[in-house]
Amino acid sequence: MLIAPSMLACDFRRIGEEANRALEAGADWLHLDVMDGSFVDNISFGPDICAAIRSAVPAEAYLDAHLMIDAPDHYLPRFVKAGMNMITIHVEREGAVDLHATLAAIRAAGIHAGLAVNPATPVEKVLPYIGELDMVLVMSVVPGFGGQSFMGEVLDKVRVLDAARKEQGLNFIIQMDGGIGATQAQLCAKAGADCLVAGSSTFKAPDMAAAIASMK
Ligand code: DX5
Ligand code: ZN
Repeated sequence: MLIAPSMLACDFRRIGEEANRALEAGADWLHLDVMDGSFVDNISFGPDICAAIRSAVPAEAYLDAHLMIDAPDHYLPRFVKAGMNMITIHVEREGAVDLHATLAAIRAAGIHAGLAVNPATPVEKVLPYIGELDMVLVMSVVPGFGGQSFMGEVLDKVRVLDAARKEQGLNFIIQMDGGIGATQAQLCAKAGADCLVAGSSTFKAPDMAAAIASMK
């Protein structure tokens, strides 16, 4: 199981040190939650902060940017330039954004491409894209804020995606994000998830290494 601590829960005064603290505690990836105050009801940080995190960590660190923004196509080049390894966009922007083209542009930049699905959005919305993806992100909270409670009903989506990838011989990663600690991690793993985003349960734990190890 890959564990991706969410930088949203770190001490922003020392964001570079916090990124390295997570890596030293055993984080496989770092998850960067980008919010524009429109797609979600919160504003976090943008490409310049992502670039600052990139420059603070070892070159091999894997940075996973979760774009909760209205115009991922418009801002994509800036996140590419910021040195992200995975860029995830939201399926809810279908129609307003050409998702096929944006996913192709992410991959053309030599970066992994992810597609996220909110709790209220049916998983069927994602299925037409799975052949073009390196990852599907199943949101287990309504995005916008850290520290919310895990919504167990989304585990059904993980089961559907896991079955679909087996049937179609695909190998995209299934990531889950929101309200995840050691207890929820077991349920996620059973349902077929491969990567867990965890903010509060890692950065706010008394012992981050122990918290990450218990989820793994
Ligand atoms: C929610 C974000 C999550 C969140 C996770 O909008 O996408 O990554 O910060 O934080 P916790 O683990 O505290 O729910
Ligand atoms: Zn996230």
